[in-house]
Amino acid sequence: MKNARTNQTLEEREASPIIHLKKLNNWIKSVLIQLYARRGDAVLDLACGKGGDLIKWDKAKIEDCRTRYNGDADHHQRRKKFTFPARLICGDCFEARLDRVLANDGPFDICSCQFAMHYSWSTEARARRALANVSALLRPGGTFIGTMPDANVIIKKLRQVEGMAFGNGVYWIKFDEEFSDKKFKSSSPFGIKYKFHLEDAVDCPEWIVPFHLFKSLAEEYDLELVFVKNSHEFVHEYMKKPEHIELMRRLGALGDGNQDQSTLSPDEWEVAYLYLTFVLKKHGQPDRTQANSRKDKGQMQISKEDVIKDKRIMTRGPLRSIDNIGYEAD
Ligand SMILES: C[S@@+](CC[C@H](N)C(=O)[O-])C[C@H]1O[C@@H](n2cnc3c(N)ncnc32)[C@H](O)[C@@H]1O
Repeated sequence: MKNARTNQTLEEREASPIIHLKKLNNWIKSVLIQLYARRGDAVLDLACGKGGDLIKWDKAKIEDCRTRYNGDADHHQRRKKFTFPARLICGDCFEARLDRVLANDGPFDICSCQFAMHYSWSTEARARRALANVSALLRPGGTFIGTMPDANVIIKKLRQVEGMAFGNGVYWIKFDEEFSDKKFKSSSPFGIKYKFHLEDAVDCPEWIVPFHLFKSLAEEYDLELVFVKNSHEFVHEYMKKPEHIELMRRLGALGDGNQDQSTLSPDEWEVAYLYLTFVLKKHGQPDRTQANSRKDKGQMQISKEDVIKDKRIMTRGPLRSIDNIGYEAD
């Protein structure tokens, strides 16, 4: 049987050198969603890739999902039926004024941006647009959840090696010679580019996001830090709870603890260490009167033809190359 999303068979997918890392990342995203999503929430999923997290939101019994779609929608040909109406929109969510494009859709209870916020740190304008979009569309008291590279870990690893590149059997990161002093000034935190290669997943430029500056910038947009945790810390902390242990067993990142002895390799575990998880909260108290005005927008089933290509948000620049990542998180 073909998995249309990746054009890989399920067997090929299971044979991926990072299959357990993908499962671990799915566990992290699922735990985050379960921690913060409430029944009936309206969700905005920015940079959702191929929409692989829709099923996670489905399990959280949310009401409504606007999702900034940016890959191909082939896997939706399967027309999985969700328990909420969803819309997939194609565009550059770090460039477009989403407060205008989605003016009639907000406010949202939750915004999620998984493994993508760092693509906005190529310039200050894009980083600000990303946060302004999130802030403008979240209701007061709403939650912004996400995952992105942990700049502290990446820079520490860069300083530990002689040259400008490091990695292991499944990934490598390479910085340009312009950063050969390995010093990164807080006064110019945008556009610190490196090349990231992750076997069977990513091969593209990415940008360092110094988290303390991300936190300060987010505060300018009324988004306050709830927590930030490196993925290792996140796993250790949430693997203490029985419901999360059970989910890990079902997803199989660490084997099923039974017949399936296959588990995350040390190389994959090192890649997990390159990422962090964050939660921010929009200032203010929720206005209960605004709820439900957005019900019934979108469809319970989505196929490729349903992806909305809105001229106001389509750009030809960065998104084009980023769309070629072919990243497969699920
Ligand atoms: C590593 S993937 C993560 C996809 C998805 N969020 C997940 O967790 O499975 C990064 C995604 O960010 C998307 N992306 C990067 N820059 C974007 C932009 N400016 N606007 C919309 N999507 C963007 C890419 O197309 C890609 O699908």
